[in-house]
Amino acid sequence: MSLTRRQLLASSLAVLAKAAPTRRLSRFDSQAGRLLATLTLEEKVGQMTQPDHKYINNLDDIARLHVGSVLSGGDSDPASGNDWKSWTDLYDRIQSAALTAKPRIPLLYGIDAVHGHNNVIGAVIFPQNIALGCTRDPGLVGRAARVTAEEVRATGIQWAFAPCVAVPQDIRWGRVYEGYSESPDVVEVLGAAAVHGLQGSALDHPLSVAACAKHFVGDGGTSFGTGIRHLLDQGDTRVDEATLRRVHLPGYISAIQAGAVTIMPSYSSWNGVRCSGHRKLLTDILKNELGFEGFLISDYNALDELPGNRKQQVEQSINAGMDMVMVPERYHEFYETLCGLAKSGEVPMTRIDDAVTRILRVKFAMGLMEPNRNLLADRSLHATFGSAEHRAVARECVRKSMVLLKNDKRVLPLARNAARIHIAGKCADDIGNQCGGWTIFWQGASGAVTEGTTILAAMRKASGSSARVTYSRDGNGAAGAAVGVAFIGETPYAEMQGDRMSLDLAAEDVAVVENLKRAGIPVVVVLISGRPLIIESVLERADAVIAAWWPGSEGDGVADVLFGDYKPTGKLSFTWPSRAATSIARSDPGYKTLFPFGYGLSY
Ligand code: GLC
Repeated sequence: MSLTRRQLLASSLAVLAKAAPTRRLSRFDSQAGRLLATLTLEEKVGQMTQPDHKYINNLDDIARLHVGSVLSGGDSDPASGNDWKSWTDLYDRIQSAALTAKPRIPLLYGIDAVHGHNNVIGAVIFPQNIALGCTRDPGLVGRAARVTAEEVRATGIQWAFAPCVAVPQDIRWGRVYEGYSESPDVVEVLGAAAVHGLQGSALDHPLSVAACAKHFVGDGGTSFGTGIRHLLDQGDTRVDEATLRRVHLPGYISAIQAGAVTIMPSYSSWNGVRCSGHRKLLTDILKNELGFEGFLISDYNALDELPGNRKQQVEQSINAGMDMVMVPERYHEFYETLCGLAKSGEVPMTRIDDAVTRILRVKFAMGLMEPNRNLLADRSLHATFGSAEHRAVARECVRKSMVLLKNDKRVLPLARNAARIHIAGKCADDIGNQCGGWTIFWQGASGAVTEGTTILAAMRKASGSSARVTYSRDGNGAAGAAVGVAFIGETPYAEMQGDRMSLDLAAEDVAVVENLKRAGIPVVVVLISGRPLIIESVLERADAVIAAWWPGSEGDGVADVLFGDYKPTGKLSFTWPSRAATSIARSDPGYKTLFPFGYGLSY
């Protein structure tokens, strides 16, 4: 029985109660105000400017434009490689450049650490949020976020563009896996837990990172056909205000209550108006009604999607309430444009001062402005980067996120000393496929992309000494084994590149299951994917089916469940559609359910 909303909230309150009470950022306004009073217009606009490091051709730009923040977006890696040292050296170089500016205002370095410090080889890669949603365990989600924060700080970086508190309503969306659930009740609890994990009990703690609840608001509710390539991503969320507040707002209310200091407006629109330029959403609701005191960071080049020319885009977004603009390459142009708009009064100085006050509040709250603060990376943290202790937390997340959908003839758990277990499928021996999108590369990639334990290696470790574990990608060679286990599903994707018209299994995957079936042995299907898929093509042939989502670098967690060292407790955080559905949009009358939200068996 899945946790009820009351149980979820009770467990989350227990978690949140342990965290420090949310202290208002406005307690820093006197310090921020004194610094603000010393700044020129140009120095203020610089604080609102966020370039991507890969487009900063001359480090002098950072001081010259008084840059307040730098990011590494997807695929924006250090020139020397994706290892820990390269990232740490990059951060130190960028921050050192900022510290030469007068006045000396340390910059915030932001990165998409969305399931671990997932850009960096050797970092622990956690299951994606869709998996964490199936744990219904805010304490665990908080611990995972804390490990992520520690590994992010080990590279010096102090800001994660996480958690995503989207509430995806159509699983054909390429970002569905970044959401915890289709249910706002689950999202509000786990999103708050992630904020607490990232920011810790004190934002100025050297292991804490600033969180960023995203993408405000309704990014997961767009109508099919309104997005990029007439699909879903960055489309239009066509709902009335009551629905927007009921479904898509709770994650932000709880994130703000949990103390999230930044929020990222969405590329998408609400009833035809882009969130990045939506005054009612950004100022009236988020800042005035909900009392958000941190700052809003735009999405990557999101201002480009606003109507009009560059000047009009910047004017609309800043006057709507945007405080910092992620303008990876064209940061000179943004800086000049906003300075011009401020000088002409088209953007009032009061708006500029409000934005910079918000940014400075966060920097004071993080301790960056303390006179003797060490602002460069603490390289001693490398000692725990990717550590066994950190990996154990991820392994626990894997175990608790797996959802048992079918288990006829009690095929699971597997017998440890079975004579032979035959493993098959494209996701069995491929750490890239088990990590999914936003892993080392923006889109993720198949193959040995990072360190960790493949599922096949884990199965071999976990099987008894007398058992033989054989493997073939296509499932051939299984005859004579005690059981065949197919690890099939999806190869990695991210954002609009994951939008799909159909969620049918790949022919290769169906063939694997058929080959195992043809061997005349019991068949277990393990789905390694970013979302529920249409599985009736294998459901009848399989004696057991389990959803493992994109489990990340710790394949041992999958073996723990398959061999019964941990009995499955995961509960679906998304409704699982049936092939009979004429539409996979749950809101459509033709939708049919195969497994309901909250479903999950055990041994
Ligand atoms: C991306 C994503 C956003 C991410 C940002 C920086 O396009 O929409 O989630 O934080 O750009 O990489």
